[in-house]
Amino acid sequence: MSAQKEHLDLAPDPELSEQDDRGRRSRRGICLIGHDQGRYHVRPSLTRAIGPVLERAREGSDRYNGSMVTRSSSIARAVPMRRVKAELSALRPAIDAAIARVLDSARLIGGPEVAAFEAELARIADVEMAVGVSSGTDALLVSLMAMDIGPGDEVVTTPFSFFATAGAIARVGARPVFADIDDDSLNLDPARALEACTARTRAILPVHLFGRPAVLPRADIPILEDAAQSLTAAPVRGQCATSSFFPAKNLGAVGDGGAVLTGDRLFAERIRILCNHGAKPKYFHHHIGGNFRLDALQAAVLRVKLPHLAGWIQARRSNARRYRTLFEQADVPAELRLPADVSEHTYNQFVIRVPQRDALRVHLADAGVATAVYYPLPLHLQPCFADLGYRPGALPVAERAAEDALALPIDPWLEPEEQDYVVDRIAAFYRR
Ligand SMILES: Cc1ncc(COP(=O)(O)O)c(C=O)c1O
Repeated sequence: MSAQKEHLDLAPDPELSEQDDRGRRSRRGICLIGHDQGRYHVRPSLTRAIGPVLERAREGSDRYNGSMVTRSSSIARAVPMRRVKAELSALRPAIDAAIARVLDSARLIGGPEVAAFEAELARIADVEMAVGVSSGTDALLVSLMAMDIGPGDEVVTTPFSFFATAGAIARVGARPVFADIDDDSLNLDPARALEACTARTRAILPVHLFGRPAVLPRADIPILEDAAQSLTAAPVRGQCATSSFFPAKNLGAVGDGGAVLTGDRLFAERIRILCNHGAKPKYFHHHIGGNFRLDALQAAVLRVKLPHLAGWIQARRSNARRYRTLFEQADVPAELRLPADVSEHTYNQFVIRVPQRDALRVHLADAGVATAVYYPLPLHLQPCFADLGYRPGALPVAERAAEDALALPIDPWLEPEEQDYVVDRIAAFYRR
């Protein structure tokens, strides 16, 4: 294994690896004011953005001489992908109160917190019904079950998504059929999706990847939208949309959680029943469901966070705009592509395309900038789907994206100085 590859393999999960916001809390203070051939000029008592980088350099490296440091490859994650800790700290008194309320009530499963969260979520997502479920994965699974999809059926979907999208199709016994993505949006190409439909196709499952709404195919086939990364980016247009409250999502729980959003009351009722082992009334089972319930503690915490979602999305959009300006001003080659400027995008991820992706990633890790690769192996080439018969080259657009897509930090807590630093380090990569 090359040193470069080893470095990447050893990197912790970038989505949740931030658990260190010392830079933000520490005002001990040194500030990046300029750099020259890899040397940073620093001055005391100003900054927080790259404080951790410089602090660690000062503490651990003889290369620090009081006013200048050089880059150290031992420095890691000074600019994290996601600051879950900062988000929780900012809301901590309200979250503590919500948790205490649930514990005091002892209504741990279902009850008023879940019902109130579902109503509030439906309002914010501008949809008739929201049903809280145990995760984004289970939201997909229970939706496919509620659509009566099973063995002998096919579901057309994207090869460029988190595994759960295709895993859920296989878990209900249906066959995932992959159609290639659109190179600009990285979403399922609607025309290719329609071409992949057969007489056995029971649904099309597009993903609004990274927060950018997908163009839905126009067909007489039910559509299930995977909105795990795109809550509120677009109105629900299909039979239903599913979302995820994994902590790194724009609306994150303090554990796992998800939701099914639908304009169809009967469908929502079916979801509810299937989430409770298919029982209605209790202990009478006309269907085989599962335990896919959202618990009251998660609902109570999500209710604290929900009113902040729109502001957090605005912050992500503003960070995206700032990246665009910075990249325009920076000396980077045209081969580095930014995500298209789409106003509905909710930027759960800001994904650039770079031919030398892995080398750039190592370079950024050495500079303390966390990045993530979503996704290194497209779904049609996953070993568990080998029996579906896809070969390398079958879906070239997705395969190319798996090689050159790189997610940069875009979290609402990202500081302007941190963005300057990220783009500056990327420009430095091309100057080497
Ligand atoms: C596109 C997509 N679908 C489904 C899921 C599954 O959600 P969860 O992790 O809540 O099960 C995720 C989570 O990362 C996702 O990104």
